[in-house]
Amino acid sequence: MLAFNNACRTCHTLKEGDNRLGPSLQAIIGRKAGSLPDFAYSSAMKDAGFVWDRDKLDRFIADPGAVVPGNRMKPFGGIAAPDVRARIIAYLESAAGR
Ligand code: HEC
Repeated sequence: MLAFNNACRTCHTLKEGDNRLGPSLQAIIGRKAGSLPDFAYSSAMKDAGFVWDRDKLDRFIADPGAVVPGNRMKPFGGIAAPDVRARIIAYLESAAGR
């Protein structure tokens, strides 16, 4: 999926347990933020205290610092285009079980 490959795949995969620079995004929708046991999250992400849904993801991909201030997802500047964000989220959703 092109938008995901361009913007996210340097740091993330959708394979369960496959943590790279960023945590695996397998089944991310419905997962508690900062909750994978074997990834070294920032304390900001670990303590974010919410469950990822489409709306949270959309706002996070647009501007990570606005949703989880102090997070360590760097250097990722955010994606301004709503249609690109929507495609990435649809991809994350469609690949949820893989
Ligand atoms: C430069 C590497 C990098 C890029 C590019 C990147 N991320 Fe991340 N991502 C991270 C890191 C590192 C974390 C952990 C942040 C923390 O602990 O504060 C993270 C965390 C996340 C989380 C929270 C995961 C959880 O378990 O709570 C989501 C969701 C996420 N990224 C989605 C994306 C998406 C979607 C893209 C592409 C639009 C993307 N990221 C691009 C490095 C990256």
